[in-house]
Amino acid sequence: MALILALESSCDDSAAALVTSDRQILAQAVVGQNEAHRPFGGVVPEIAARAHVEVLPGLVRQVLHEADIAIGDLDAIAATAGPGLIGGVMVGLLAGKGLALAAGKPLIAVNHLEGHALSPRLVDASLDFPYLLLLASGGHCQLLEVRGVGNYRRLGTTIDDAAGEAFDKAAKLLGLGYPGGPAIEALASEGDSKTVPLPRPLSGSAEPHFSFAGLKGAVQRAVASGEYRAADVAASFQAAVVDCFVDRTRIALGASDAPALVLAGGVAANVAVRTALAALAREQGRAFAVPPAWLCTDNAAMIGWAGAERLAAGMVDGLDAPARARWPLDERAEAVRGAGVKA
Ligand code: KG4
Ligand code: ZN
Repeated sequence: MALILALESSCDDSAAALVTSDRQILAQAVVGQNEAHRPFGGVVPEIAARAHVEVLPGLVRQVLHEADIAIGDLDAIAATAGPGLIGGVMVGLLAGKGLALAAGKPLIAVNHLEGHALSPRLVDASLDFPYLLLLASGGHCQLLEVRGVGNYRRLGTTIDDAAGEAFDKAAKLLGLGYPGGPAIEALASEGDSKTVPLPRPLSGSAEPHFSFAGLKGAVQRAVASGEYRAADVAASFQAAVVDCFVDRTRIALGASDAPALVLAGGVAANVAVRTALAALAREQGRAFAVPPAWLCTDNAAMIGWAGAERLAAGMVDGLDAPARARWPLDERAEAVRGAGVKA
């Protein structure tokens, strides 16, 4: 059994965890930064990086203390090395390098997206490769065939906004707080999803890509019209995203014979999304897996688990491992026409 200390700092959550290769989480801690960013209405990279500097060392001490583990007991240190806000990534990765050096143990530079992608296997030992993954977070919206550790084929991606970003923007238009996903979900439960006519961008198109920018524009017009209750807008918006997920994922399942459909990333915490994708998997005769909500949003346990999977495969990194703002899981996938800088 291997014991991994993991660090996560790619966006606005600082996190540390102790994870074992036999799927135990000995301790974990996550500290968000919502208060620090709230006055600015979104994540400010410089503030995020400084907050990671202040918070991470205490979190490392805390998880080691809670599990009664000394640094010499570790088998490896896993740290998120990207993609994400580069200042924060550098803080966590450098901390990981320092700890690896002090412990004399290998560093594992983890791709944050691989953390999300492998997270369902941390809680479900029966989930084997390959599986079709819908990865929907604040920075990404992709359909990937997960063939093994470090082995991904991208079938679809967003040509503009990420799904979580769309939730956050819709929430802002409705005057709800950041992050918007949980706020929209709560408000949607009081609304009628059939009230506001909203588009389902790219639905019916042959390739399983996503687009959410037009949906945001439509929400903006619906709010500005003053004709609708906020709860009805929230419910209608959430239903539109769910419909896009189902339509696009159905196309991707047609291009993959993976026996299971898996959902991960922050947006996978949404119950309407989870329910609709589970129904799609049933319709398509595939197994379905989604991690518990706490494992969907950013955390270090998933980074530790990805580290355990990589360590078992002999994939360790040198202390010269780079911090990467951009780091696609499928390096062969080409940019999609109409896509911006987001991978
Ligand atoms: O994976 P994550 O924690 O961070 C990134 O790697 O981006 O995802 C954060 C995103 C945010 O955009 C947030 O609004 C969204 O996930 N989110 C949700 C829910 N919880 C978090 N979206 C919809 N419904 C939720 N319950
Ligand atoms: Zn994430």
